[in-house]
Amino acid sequence: MLITFEGIDGCGKSTHIKKLKAYLTDKGYDVHVFREPGGTPLSEQIRDILLNSKDDIHPLAESLLFSAARAQLVATRIRPLLDTGAIVILDRFFDSTTAYQGYGRQAVPVPDIEQLNRLATQNLEPDITIYLKLDPEMAYERRKKVRKEDRMEQAGADFFKRVNAGFDALAAREKRIVVFDSSRSAAETFEAIEGHLEKMLPRL
Ligand code: TMP
Repeated sequence: MLITFEGIDGCGKSTHIKKLKAYLTDKGYDVHVFREPGGTPLSEQIRDILLNSKDDIHPLAESLLFSAARAQLVATRIRPLLDTGAIVILDRFFDSTTAYQGYGRQAVPVPDIEQLNRLATQNLEPDITIYLKLDPEMAYERRKKVRKEDRMEQAGADFFKRVNAGFDALAAREKRIVVFDSSRSAAETFEAIEGHLEKMLPRL
């Protein structure tokens, strides 16, 4: 089973992924968590370029780098684990490329990004995508308390509004995407996630 988490920076993904991993492990599932971009040595090197490069990265090159990191992770880690019956949780997946590079950057057309996504994943789709929805200003307030901004986070408020609108558009279109209001307390949001997932977990 493949579970992905999406949302803008500061939406609370890390907290809920940690909670979900503990919850599913306690139930006896074999659970693996990866972050995107990252999750393999090569993909982590690409992450470092994407988040810390001092050079300008052209929007098409940026889309291709996110996709290259993803292709490596899917082929060498995710597919083999799913084949064993494990539960894989991903901190971001291709919806982030559609929202950030497609809707956010507005340089590569969304249909082209979606084609790239299918190629990089070889058509692998999540069973469920947990979209943690949070107002961009609230997300900014939350994340500035905990860390320095990386290259993506420096893109500015208008960029994040477009990314947010991108996630909303995807959620309206895709049945697999379930929206959770992340402005509530972490405990309340997690209770809602747990309640939803309960119904769809595989038999042990
Ligand atoms: P993270 O901070 O959630 O680990 O994500 C890294 C940053 O990269 C975050 O700002 C979102 C961005 N990103 C994209 O722009 N496109 C993508 O395809 C992915 C996976 C992440």
